[in-house]
Amino acid sequence: MPARNPKDRLIVALDMESLAQAEALLDRLQGVVGAWKIGSQLFTASGPMAVELVQKRGGAVFLDLKFHDIPNTVAGAVREATRMRVLMLNVHASGGSAMLRAAAEAARQAAREFNVAKPLCLAVTVLTSLDRACLQRELNVPLSVEGHALHLAKLAKDAGLDGSVSAPQEIRAIRNALGREWVIVTPGVRPAGSEAGDQARVATPEAAIRAGADYLVVGRPITAAPDPKAAATAILEAMAKA
Ligand code: C5P
Repeated sequence: MPARNPKDRLIVALDMESLAQAEALLDRLQGVVGAWKIGSQLFTASGPMAVELVQKRGGAVFLDLKFHDIPNTVAGAVREATRMRVLMLNVHASGGSAMLRAAAEAARQAAREFNVAKPLCLAVTVLTSLDRACLQRELNVPLSVEGHALHLAKLAKDAGLDGSVSAPQEIRAIRNALGREWVIVTPGVRPAGSEAGDQARVATPEAAIRAGADYLVVGRPITAAPDPKAAATAILEAMAKA
């Protein structure tokens, strides 16, 4: 069951190059934010120590490494992430149903074997950096971005995954099609008046929660703010009101 407290539903992206930078932000937001996303930059730089750093301070980890490989290799990666007691991890749905089933089964098995909670296994559907022209001309997919994202989310659900990483504009269709239990994690969140940066499809925290997101991933609006604590607090308040 997804968390209901705004503090546990806001995931701050630790998109940085060193443990020291991550630690500085964790210290500034201690007690305010409960969950953190570790992606390929910090993990490539610092490895499992980044996960331990967050967990030692009582934080939950979304390990955003977007696994995409043959089923056996993805199963091994999911097993290791489960051993690290992450709250959630993700794999590319376009790896196909055999790979998705292998990921889901590896999480279940490893959780039993290591006696830890099973992480939520999320599907990455269509990267928010891709648009319809790229899908059609480069990848030869004749669907809209939203249509293809929904197709891949259904594939992931049938294979036993728990949820998807979904852009704000996709939330309603995915929630309607896949039901209340499907976990929706939404990046591209921008408080009113903040910079969109390289995100093309954005929504305010209130709009994303109202549309049915379970968790919001926020990076730069908090990490690059002059006062990250004030920025996070304002987003949490907006989430609570929605
Ligand atoms: O700084 P910003 O709020 O744009 O950060 C959003 C985070 O969510 C980044 O870490 C980005 O990699 C991640 N993300 C995304 N779109 C996806 C999946 C992950 O923006 N589809």
